[in-house]
Amino acid sequence: MLSHVGPWLEEEAKQQKFYDSAFTHLLPLCMNHHFSTRIHAQATICKMWRQCKSLGLDNILSKFALVEGCIQFNDGSNATKNTLKLMESYFMATFDPVRDYSIETIFLTLPKLTCLTDEEWLPPEMFSDMDPTWLDANALKLLSLYNGRDSLNSSKSGPWRVKIHSLCRTSEIFGIKEYVIGSMRHLVDKNFSSLSVTAEKWIPIREVPSEYLQNFLIEKQRDGYALVGAEQTANSRCLTDYEFPMKTVLILGNEREGIPASLISLLDVCVEIPQQGVIRSLNVHVSGALLMWEYTRQMHSHRTKTSSNQKSL
Ligand SMILES: C[S@@+](CC[C@H](N)C(=O)[O-])C[C@H]1O[C@@H](n2cnc3c(N)ncnc32)[C@H](O)[C@@H]1O
Repeated sequence: MLSHVGPWLEEEAKQQKFYDSAFTHLLPLCMNHHFSTRIHAQATICKMWRQCKSLGLDNILSKFALVEGCIQFNDGSNATKNTLKLMESYFMATFDPVRDYSIETIFLTLPKLTCLTDEEWLPPEMFSDMDPTWLDANALKLLSLYNGRDSLNSSKSGPWRVKIHSLCRTSEIFGIKEYVIGSMRHLVDKNFSSLSVTAEKWIPIREVPSEYLQNFLIEKQRDGYALVGAEQTANSRCLTDYEFPMKTVLILGNEREGIPASLISLLDVCVEIPQQGVIRSLNVHVSGALLMWEYTRQMHSHRTKTSSNQKSL
């Protein structure tokens, strides 16, 4: 947002004030320990610096002169590559908050692109029958329902979809009894079948919207299922020492926030896959696949032992 505001301010004094405050707040974030925060701050600083140059804001350029040296991204590191890639991304390089201002952008495109759960997306059709009261205060005209530019509609939605598809495929392959997702709308995505290789046709899929997930899990627990969370917590059991109960519900965390704290307290156990490297965590679909395989392996070896015991009796 910061990278879009400055050029739209009408008076130079307002621009000076805005960039002064924006640089002051953003500069410390360029060294934040969180990788994503850091590269977003760096890319935004870089874009704002270019804006200040083209707006001729000499006071700001001299006050923050050190910035110029800090935004020479030429060390070839991964961080640099990611920052440069981000600067070329749609929202940094092309998106125009005024031209692209529509009901569809606000209620559908942005929630979709920022990976909000799809229960939060509102298609523009929902607004079409209503008496329109949304007015663009400056231009005194109706805010349009749809995006004016196709490029915005075709911007890729978050990578989380790939994970839902991959997990569906893995669940089917390992014979998981039921795959639970937040919304059946994921299945109508035209990419779903190609990525899941039609796994959704062979495995029962249940829709449990996020607001009902807690009750769903409590009911499963009452039916004798162990709630096993895949998560790195201070009390997690190591996967190599953990014996899965046959009746297990495996709970996987959100790619960004992990399993919400409100659900963690419900779980019977959290299990963690031991890691050796520097990177903090695995992708959710990789974690899901490893845990499902370990469950399957244990059930298989349990069955093999039971049948060889029966034979020797
Ligand atoms: C990318 S991680 C979540 C990131 C996490 N919130 C963090 O602080 O880095 C997404 C999910 O993958 C699973 N996961 C990742 N690494 C794991 C590990 N070593 N053991 C068990 N589950 C793991 C968990 O379900 C987790 O919630």
